[in-house]
Formats: sequence, C-alpha cells, structure tokens
Amino acid sequence: MVDEDESVDLSFGLKGKVTVVTGGAAGIGAAIARAFVANGARVALVDRDIDTARAHARNRGENVRAFQCDVADPSSAENAVRSVLTEFGHMDVLANCAGMVVLAPAEDLTSQMWDTTLAVNLTGTFLMSQQVGRAMLEAGGGKIINIASQAASIGLDQHAAYCASKAGVRGPAPGGRAPSRWVLPDGQRGLSAAAPGARRPHRGHRRLAACPETWPLCRWLSAAARARARCLVARA
Ligand SMILES: NC(=O)c1ccc[n+]([C@@H]2O[C@H](COP(=O)([O-])OP(=O)(O)OC[C@H]3O[C@@H](n4cnc5c(N)ncnc54)[C@H](O)[C@@H]3O)[C@@H](O)[C@H]2O)c1
Repeated sequence: MVDEDESVDLSFGLKGKVTVVTGGAAGIGAAIARAFVANGARVALVDRDIDTARAHARNRGENVRAFQCDVADPSSAENAVRSVLTEFGHMDVLANCAGMVVLAPAEDLTSQMWDTTLAVNLTGTFLMSQQVGRAMLEAGGGKIINIASQAASIGLDQHAAYCASKAGVRGPAPGGRAPSRWVLPDGQRGLSAAAPGARRPHRGHRRLAACPETWPLCRWLSAAARARARCLVARA
C-alpha cells in the first residue's frame, strides 16, 4: 500500500478567496483550512466545536475566523452563513467537511443513530450548500466541494447509515446520480464531490487493512494530501 501522496503541485494561489470550511476544527477540514490559508485564502472555520475552531483561528492569524454552527440545524446554518458574510463580505469556496460516523451492525443500528448520521452528513451538507450557494449565485459564482467517501460506492461493514449518507452526498454532484441545479449560469460547474478513501489514523483502519479488496483506493491518504486535492478543485 502506498503510504501518503504529497506530490500534488501547490504552486498556485487562492489569494483573497473567501473559503468556508465546515468541520474545520479537526481532521480533514482542519487540513483543508491550513492548505487554503497557506495558499492565500481567507478562511471561515465553521464547526460545532467552537472552542477548538477558535483556538485554530487564533494560531493562524487574521485571515482565519471561527464560527459556531451545527450544520444539521437549519437556523444554525443560516446564522453562521450570515455571520461569515458580515465578516468577509462574500464567499468563493465552500468545503463541506463536517461529518460523523457511528459503527454498528445494521441489525443493531438504532433509528436515532441512523437519523443523526443522515442529519449531519447529508442534510448538513445540503443546508450549508443551499445557504452558501444562494449567496454565490447572487454574487455570480463560487465552488462547493462536498466530501463524500468511498463508502458512497461500496458497502462497508458496520457503516450502513454512513454509506447511505455519503451516497446521498455524491448523488447531486456532476457524475453523481441526480441532476444538479448547482450549475452556474455561464455553464461553469459550481458543485463537486470528492470521495476519499481512508485517512490514517482512522477508526476502521485495521479492519480495512485486513480486507483491501473491498477498498477501492487501496492506499492511505494523509489529511494533508487530501487538502492539496481540494485546493486543486477550488482553483479549477
Ligand atoms: N477520516 C476518513 O478516513 C474519511 C474518509 C472518507 C471521508 N471522510 C469524510 O471527511 C469528512 C471529515 O472527516 P474527518 O475524519 O476529518 O472527521 P473528524 O471527526 O476528524 O472531524 C469532523 C469535524 O466535524 C465537526 N462536526 C461534526 N458534526 C458537526 C455538526 N453537526 N456541525 C458542525 N460541525 C460538526 C466536528 O466537530 C469535527 O471538527 C467527513 O465528512 C467524513 O465523513 C473521512
């Protein structure tokens, strides 16, 4: 298995681009935020965990601000987007990274586990995309990057709710299953979905390593490598 891929060319700038990163307080979201700031973007860290988001913002200087938000709650999403607009004036990129997983055999999964997973991963992605997307359409453009997963395409043991949520995230993106309205008037694509494989360290990494045939990418990716890929998507 290939360990990490740090080979993506980052010799371009996102100077001044206002980027909203949900789930920006941890993991892939935090890595994406770091990569965007390093490339000159101004970043709004939107997260339920406001203390950690604020700590990151303090460490990364004046181009980063933290905003409290539960992406699964419509009024919380609306308020957060309004606050970002007040702070930054406009939004160029949205990276929907907030997500969660609960592991349980399908026969033991409670309806609460199912509902919570779909509320955060799928409804939260929609709510944030809708709120930010409206402002982008008004401003004439923008990019929305949704983080799906390999779990959108394959069945992973104990991931029934997670797989369903990520298949939903992939659905509306170009190349997904549902037609997308998120195409800008000039034909520019405004929405994309990334379907990463497993990040290391990862809760299920031992199980995945034991059955690589169920694992399309068959490689670990660092959060930083994923962030580089997102930068490329945002620039395109
Ligand atoms: N870790 C992996 O290997 C992997 C693989 C494929 C896809 N993904 C997807 O990438 C995204 C990030 O994964 P990660 O492993 O970095 O996660 P993580 O658990 O490290 O971080 C998730 C962040 O989202 C925030 N969050 C959770 N629920 C929220 C809510 N309701 N409102 C606002 N913020 C909320 C958390 O506070 C946290 O900061 C998720 O969508 C995940 O499904 C992860």
